[in-house]
Amino acid sequence: MKKLTILALAAAIALPMSAVPKKRPVYLDPEAPIEQRVEDALSRMTLEEKVRILHAQSKFSSAGVPRLGIPELWTTDGPHGIRPEVLWDEWDQAGWTNDSCVAFPALTCLAATWNPDMADLYGRTIGEEARYRGKDVLLGPGVNIYRTPLNGRNFEYMGEDPYLAAKMVVPYVQGLQDNGVAACVKHYALNNNEVNRHTTNVILDDRALYEIYLPAFKAAVQDGGAWSIMGAYNLYNDEHLCHNRRMLNDILKGEWGFDGVVISDWGGTHDTRQAITNGLDLEFGSWTNGLSAGTRNAYDNYYLAKPYLDLIKSGEVGTEELDDKARRVLRLIFRTAMDSRPGYGALCADEHYDAARRIGDEGIVLLKNDNATLPLKLDGTKKILVVGENAVKMMTVGGGSSSLKAQHEISPLDGLRAAVPAGVEVEYVRGYVGDVTGEYNGVTTGQDLKDDRSADELIAEAVAKAKDADYVIFFGGLNKSDHQDCEDSDRAGLELPYDQDRVISALAKANPNFAVVNISGNAVAMPWVKEVPAIVQAWFLGSEAGNSIADILLGKVNPSGKLPMTFPVALNDNGAHATGSYPGVKRDNSDIWDLEYKEGILVGYRWHDTKKIKPLFAFGHGLSYTDFAYGKATADATDMTADGTITITVPVTNTGKVAGEEVVQLYISDPKSSLPRPAKELKGFKKLSLKPGETANAVFTITADDLSFFDPAKHEWVAEKGKFVASVGAASDDIKSTVNFNLK
Ligand code: GLC
Repeated sequence: MKKLTILALAAAIALPMSAVPKKRPVYLDPEAPIEQRVEDALSRMTLEEKVRILHAQSKFSSAGVPRLGIPELWTTDGPHGIRPEVLWDEWDQAGWTNDSCVAFPALTCLAATWNPDMADLYGRTIGEEARYRGKDVLLGPGVNIYRTPLNGRNFEYMGEDPYLAAKMVVPYVQGLQDNGVAACVKHYALNNNEVNRHTTNVILDDRALYEIYLPAFKAAVQDGGAWSIMGAYNLYNDEHLCHNRRMLNDILKGEWGFDGVVISDWGGTHDTRQAITNGLDLEFGSWTNGLSAGTRNAYDNYYLAKPYLDLIKSGEVGTEELDDKARRVLRLIFRTAMDSRPGYGALCADEHYDAARRIGDEGIVLLKNDNATLPLKLDGTKKILVVGENAVKMMTVGGGSSSLKAQHEISPLDGLRAAVPAGVEVEYVRGYVGDVTGEYNGVTTGQDLKDDRSADELIAEAVAKAKDADYVIFFGGLNKSDHQDCEDSDRAGLELPYDQDRVISALAKANPNFAVVNISGNAVAMPWVKEVPAIVQAWFLGSEAGNSIADILLGKVNPSGKLPMTFPVALNDNGAHATGSYPGVKRDNSDIWDLEYKEGILVGYRWHDTKKIKPLFAFGHGLSYTDFAYGKATADATDMTADGTITITVPVTNTGKVAGEEVVQLYISDPKSSLPRPAKELKGFKKLSLKPGETANAVFTITADDLSFFDPAKHEWVAEKGKFVASVGAASDDIKSTVNFNLK
């Protein structure tokens, strides 16, 4: 027996060490609580390793800790799809052949669905694409408020209303992060125009800041649980937003309890000491303009690189901020790159195309439809004439950092041709020539849009063809080139470019069966609005654009989108322009532009309502191929207490012949308040799906939060006792009924 024991003992000792399960360090244990992993990793890191994870190592990646097996972080644009791989230290694409993506509709389209389920679908599917492409941080979504219709990047954002943007950004963030990919909600904050985007110093009162420009970011952080936020390029209180004490330390991390990472915009960091003390955690793209120019391989000289290390080593600064930043970056790595549980995503899956198409279908807005011009009646129709460059021009290439290499992009013309039955001819003429380029960062559309004919020739051709077509459909609007819907430049005016108004007016005279499809991420002037029986707002819809547009034009889908921004008749009907605030005043002997938001809280419909200016098309406007009748709105009580609720109910009936969806909107007015308030503010919306003849109730539960305004003197939200009015409607300018109640 003894001999046997000794033999067994000897055998055990002789086992190779690897067979003896080594106790894994806590930071490597995916089941360990994340904060323990953070502390364990931090305790093992050297000073140099802590500094190294706080800044980029390449154009879109930051270092991990190789010695400890902590992976690096990979970020990617953008909000509408996964950017093609770029070279290590370049903006140009690397020429990979496995990185084409699904281009999803622009976020203005998502907002126009007024359907949080679409936001969840969007975040979930784009998150699968990012995950599959090995990306840990998606540089999006953007939620900057639509303050001026000239802002080149409005197409990337979710409209003019803080409540709508807040409700729509949360499911996007949650769906995205369920894939183990961090949202990087941008551009925090007050980046509401592109002109002078690096040098604009925004000046505004706290009411506008807290009531208009912060709510969507706050919701993304507190309700969405966003794991990262991107600092904006501009300044506020004379401090750049990427290291702005009040916005990052006091509000984001202080008041909102943000535990994630503040990532600079590319080129948004300007000062080491401010970056250390004012809340920046991860520095990207220094010395670039965020699009093209850049200083080569300057990574060790980044503000939070060697300069920071030197300050610590010289004893000039401590390591308290360093450890806080490193903890946040480690937390982000453990939430993304080091969490294998969410699986590995998917790329260009059929479900992703279906999602893109559904979001497009639900976001397209039917602005006008006289004589039931739409949907197109194909019985007896022999020829549809399609006119306009935007019927064929690819829109997924260009526009700045959101530019993509889409696996495919169905044009409106191709979508329509694929959808009409045999026997219906869809003929195309150019109508106008706009932007014939088609390249961005090495991605080319491959289209040859060159056409040297004069405007007169193009219009004459279109008019001649229009005369004997059963239907004429004009596709125009904006595109993704400079001074259109494009990053780093604003539009010059509200008007359609390339003399499109002339073409539209000429076609309207040539054929009464005429529809205009406006493709843009911004409001445009429509001097011909009375001459055109049908108008559709079709956004930038991405890969499935032509299919979604055909779905709507042919009535396969009943349009249900509502405008997330006001379409003013003229630019000066908009508060940012009527007050002369935009684009600000250049400081003497400085490149800074001071831009005071003089309209304050009166942004968008808040301005139009309060100043009684009739819009071309109102915030929340959108028609259907069916009709809806609203019953009387009722409240379940006449009084509510500060900690209570009140429930507003309104029955809605589909009185038409086809099924449809109606976005029922609830606005709150506070007729008597100690501080001025807008005439009404959106505080609820419900998208009801109704069959012909069906009635359903839209039910809204109001709390004191929905009645509050921000009181700068008290620095808190206040709901004052007294009478309130709940207005229920189909648009901000189409209130169907109101009900009064009191806050006791
Ligand atoms: C750009 C944009 C930002 C983008 C980043 C990286 O300048 O402002 O939205 O994510 O740089 O491309």
